[in-house]
Amino acid sequence: MDRTIITGGTPLRGEVQIGGAKNAALPILASTILGGGECVMTNVPRVVDVVTMGKLLGILGAKVHYEGNCAVINAAVITSTQAPYDLVKTMRASVLVLGPLLARWGEATVSMPGGCAIGSRPVNLHLAGLAKMGADVSMEHGYIRAKAKRLTGAQIYCDTPTVTGTENLMMAASLAQGTTVIENAAKEPEIVDLANFLMKRGARIDGAGSDVITIEGVRELHGSDHDVIPDRIEAGTYLVAGAITRGTVTLNRCRPNHMDALLMKLREAGVEIQVDKEQIHLNAGSPLKGIDIRTLPYPGFPTDMQAQMVALMTVAEGTSVITETVFESRFMHVEELRRMGADIKVEGNRAVVAGPTKLAGAPVMASDLRASAGLVLAGLAAEGTTEILRVYHLDRGYERMEEKLRGLGATITRHKEGAAPADNC
Ligand code: EPZ
Repeated sequence: MDRTIITGGTPLRGEVQIGGAKNAALPILASTILGGGECVMTNVPRVVDVVTMGKLLGILGAKVHYEGNCAVINAAVITSTQAPYDLVKTMRASVLVLGPLLARWGEATVSMPGGCAIGSRPVNLHLAGLAKMGADVSMEHGYIRAKAKRLTGAQIYCDTPTVTGTENLMMAASLAQGTTVIENAAKEPEIVDLANFLMKRGARIDGAGSDVITIEGVRELHGSDHDVIPDRIEAGTYLVAGAITRGTVTLNRCRPNHMDALLMKLREAGVEIQVDKEQIHLNAGSPLKGIDIRTLPYPGFPTDMQAQMVALMTVAEGTSVITETVFESRFMHVEELRRMGADIKVEGNRAVVAGPTKLAGAPVMASDLRASAGLVLAGLAAEGTTEILRVYHLDRGYERMEEKLRGLGATITRHKEGAAPADNC
């Protein structure tokens, strides 16, 4: 398994280009199943989860061609409606093929994604919504089996705003008979990007980005091209890299208007930030202040930036309380940060961080995608050398991270050692 080795202490300086959003690309790729025409997607991040989604579409019979950050998919012919456990266990977002398969082909068999390092990750809201649209949904030997001659529009209320649940139901409703209203829908920019792509292909969707989405089903969708929105979590991660090393970094090709909560919190912590339409300039010259953070569904503070901010708060002056309200066990990075000298206590769903700490480099273990990012950031600030094991988690959501950080002056190298195990989150 690969290791990443960092020698910390260098303030990062320079510019970094942000890639396409993993969490927009995944539902957009899955949605190609909904229609027969060719779909050409650009600004697609070359990360492991996107490669896995391409493999899944290929297993289902679609024609899949990836070239650099471009993906060309034609799902006119589907030879299977089964998403196998072996693949789903490596990427829970595989569940995103459930709605499209059911809507276009009348059936789907998708392995239950199972839990992962950050929580139990149920999909009950996905299934309840599809059942309301007339699907016959059952569980057999760890697989979700869903059938429907043709889905019918329904009034669906989600108990909690679920991102992939909203995406699955919006895709399924695109081809249903009649109108579907999804209430308490998730509002993430990735959902808006998916809706924009579907509308270019003939779908009739209103309200994406709000908590009530109305979809009027159509008979079929055609192909289209689409440029995936920039990744707001990758962007946030590089901002924290600049802040934790007290550096001066500029992010290019990002969307500041998708990052309001994070930018406000970084400013509250004493970081200087200027934004243009597609650029963010950060200057972290002055001392950092400890602040309180509460993760919430969008537009609240993103849970996918929680681990990165816990790392940042370890070097800030004062006490910070970070409350995780979205997932039940997303503090796996804390024990590893404590190994680097951080003073953090976890009490239920709160991490109480006392700073500032002079972090010391140490061997640490990555556990999931965003926890790994938090450990990299701590390594960039720590005195001495940090060795991050199981760093394959990073590759699921960050394209060429070591290279991009070296471009900002970091001393960071990747050491390849054997294949990564297949595990899920
Ligand atoms: C998406 O996961 C993202 N993944 C996650 O990013 C992100 O952390 C999460 O949304 C929250 O923003 C993708 O978009 C591929 P949810 P998702 O359904 O859709 C509960 C990353 O690091 N829930 O919005 O799986 C659930 O337990 C990944 O890029 C149900 O109870 O998350 C959680 O508490 C990690 N029943 C809450 O809702 C359901 O049927 C939010 O989960 C579905 C969800």
